[in-house]
Amino acid sequence: MRRGVMAGRFASSGTALDQFWRVEELEAPARERLAAATAEFLSGVPGDGRTLSANRAAFARWQFEPHVLVDVSLRDLSTTVLGQRIELPVMIAPSALHRLYHPDGELATARAAAAAGTLAVISTSSSYPLEDVRAAAADFAPWFQLYWVSDREMTRYLVERAHAAGFAAICLTVDAAVPSWREHELRAPFVFPDGVIQANLPGGPHVHATDLTWESLAWLRSLSPLPLVLKGVLRVDDARRAVEHGVDGLIVSNHGGRQLDGSIASLDALAAVAEALDGSIELYMDGGVRSGSDVAVAVALGARAVLIGRPALWGLTLGGEAGVARVLALLRGQLDSAMGLLGAPTLPSLTRDLLRPA
Ligand SMILES: Cc1cc2nc3c(=O)[nH]c(=O)nc-3n(C[C@H](O)[C@H](O)[C@H](O)COP(=O)(O)O)c2cc1C
Repeated sequence: MRRGVMAGRFASSGTALDQFWRVEELEAPARERLAAATAEFLSGVPGDGRTLSANRAAFARWQFEPHVLVDVSLRDLSTTVLGQRIELPVMIAPSALHRLYHPDGELATARAAAAAGTLAVISTSSSYPLEDVRAAAADFAPWFQLYWVSDREMTRYLVERAHAAGFAAICLTVDAAVPSWREHELRAPFVFPDGVIQANLPGGPHVHATDLTWESLAWLRSLSPLPLVLKGVLRVDDARRAVEHGVDGLIVSNHGGRQLDGSIASLDALAAVAEALDGSIELYMDGGVRSGSDVAVAVALGARAVLIGRPALWGLTLGGEAGVARVLALLRGQLDSAMGLLGAPTLPSLTRDLLRPA
């Protein structure tokens, strides 16, 4: 029997996780608990934060037109991503250095994901070794998020190591060729606290390659037999090019508004890309997903699954594994409720015609 959303669970600090019933309620207490520089690293965005706001606003521009008198007594939230079964269409987005938020870092994240029946995408900047994170993830093989660094041999090393460790896919982030102009980081460069390291990058931080093109993907594919996902695609023509180049999946994403401020909302990009590609490749999205209804909207617009970035880190901060588990349990409970009330008891029945522009 799955651990229900009602199960009372407490973080070691005494924060009652079961006081939280909306994902966004975790943000303020999490930020309060963190050192100022870490809170800034977690929340900081470039420019005016227009893309951050746009990601949220895009969800509010859709309304549901629910079916009634549908048998919803059996609701099935499961799907597959690149052939791997997950119990709910929510994965954990890759983010750097989980030890900043909790001593168990990515181990806690991977355990919470697996306990909820889903997978985590683990960053190149993971603060735990890939092998240990893979073991913590039990039956839910994580994906490895690759930052293609300027040193090709280091890129090869990372991919081969992820493959050997048993990761299920390579997820190349393509929206971060150069550093984003984040004023707070320019003013006060983020310094890793003692004990927090990029555990898989010998020799410390590496510069991202700035000369990648579509032609570069062939070399990447030659390094391992793992499926390749691109993260950070927003345009229909780029999505088509990805299909032409044999990419296996796309995460439609603007990096949570952390890279190019002024970029379009991920959800709007998803709608356009899904319509144009018409099922030829698996599509996922991230950016601004904060509720089960948000997940339902994204699935109805064509996402096979969504990913959550900051919400997982708020949970990690407040309760380690239990905190991430709480966030996933809230999303699961809300999605289950939304699907029942929509008359769409399975993910394939969550179709585009259930939505109309607000
Ligand atoms: C603190 C932080 C660090 C991140 N680090 C990475 C990273 O190392 N690699 C990557 O591809 N994306 C990274 N991201 C972006 C996330 O994968 C994801 O695209 C974004 O957080 C989704 O938006 P959301 O936070 O609104 O859910 C990071 C995001 C945050 C908030």
